[in-house]
Amino acid sequence: MTNALKTWADMPRPIVCLAPMDGITDTAYRRLVRQFSPRVVLFSEFTSADGVLRSENVRRRLEFAPEEQPFFVQLFGNNPETFREAALMLEQQGVAGVDVNMGCPAKKIVHSQHGSGLMKDVNQACRIVETIAEACRIEVSVKTRLGWNNAERLIPFASSLADAGASLITIHGRTYDQQFAGQADWEPIYRLKRHLSVPVLGNGDVRNHEDGLRRMGNLDGFMIGRAAIGNPWVFLPPDGEGGQSPTLAERARVMELHYNLMREHKAERHALIEFRKHMAGYLRGFDLAKTARRTLLEVTCETVLLERLAALAEGIIETPQGRVIPIGPSRLLALAG
Ligand SMILES: Cc1cc2nc3c(=O)[nH]c(=O)nc-3n(C[C@H](O)[C@H](O)[C@H](O)COP(=O)(O)O)c2cc1C
Repeated sequence: MTNALKTWADMPRPIVCLAPMDGITDTAYRRLVRQFSPRVVLFSEFTSADGVLRSENVRRRLEFAPEEQPFFVQLFGNNPETFREAALMLEQQGVAGVDVNMGCPAKKIVHSQHGSGLMKDVNQACRIVETIAEACRIEVSVKTRLGWNNAERLIPFASSLADAGASLITIHGRTYDQQFAGQADWEPIYRLKRHLSVPVLGNGDVRNHEDGLRRMGNLDGFMIGRAAIGNPWVFLPPDGEGGQSPTLAERARVMELHYNLMREHKAERHALIEFRKHMAGYLRGFDLAKTARRTLLEVTCETVLLERLAALAEGIIETPQGRVIPIGPSRLLALAG
């Protein structure tokens, strides 16, 4: 969607999104995901509405490339006027819309009545949505959870948000109390959709594109979060080019690309630390011996990291002792000696 004003209602179904993830979905990762899928809808990391107005650093963190469209910025906060000013600023910058975070369970956020805290104050939650919708032409959506400790209030809560002007609602199928424990329950989300005319997305435990399609039921689409960490292949349809099971060597080539994209925006020290989370994802599921894994995850110098990734792309793992361990064609590590 190069036209940022295209509405959620017009988007082809299923709507497939990269879930907003703090520390993960920066511009580098979003641009990488875009190279894998032209259609995935991209969300920023959650960002303080107040920070957008006051901090040059925060605004810089939200810079995005044209190919990231449709690009949505997720904001958290509590003050409707602050949201309005931040949304107007983002509208000027050409984002497709803003998403209001009403699901973050972090103590600090909830104590300030931000994030999940807004599920307890329906009036304030609606005022925020209404104020943005009245001031801006871009989309206003909400991402929230099933409820505080059960899903009893989900339908009235989400209906009020839609009446206030939310043009899309995403539900993570867990309550605030559950945080990330247990399994996501999608049944209340299906029930909600039967009561709402605006699009509804399901979220929680989707393993890949195919799994999302299977779970989607009567919904308009789904978001993929954790399964996408170090795994941009997760958005490929199973019959699509490339498949969802890349070899370790292929992963290494993508890791190198990803790291280089990060370096366009981040200093070496910062990029190296942040990249570890992604690397852990890229290496997930591979039977790498502990030391070999450590040689990648604990690298403290960019030159060494890039050398090791280049070697890995050739099927070789270099350990600090200089040992070279060939990787068998089965993609699993065959330890030499
Ligand atoms: C590291 C991490 C950071 C997250 N940051 C955000 C965030 O900034 N905003 C948000 O709405 N949800 C955030 N979430 C929650 C995800 O968007 C998603 O709702 C949740 O992980 C469930 O989906 P999944 O099972 O596909 O991961 C985060 C989750 C993780 C694991």
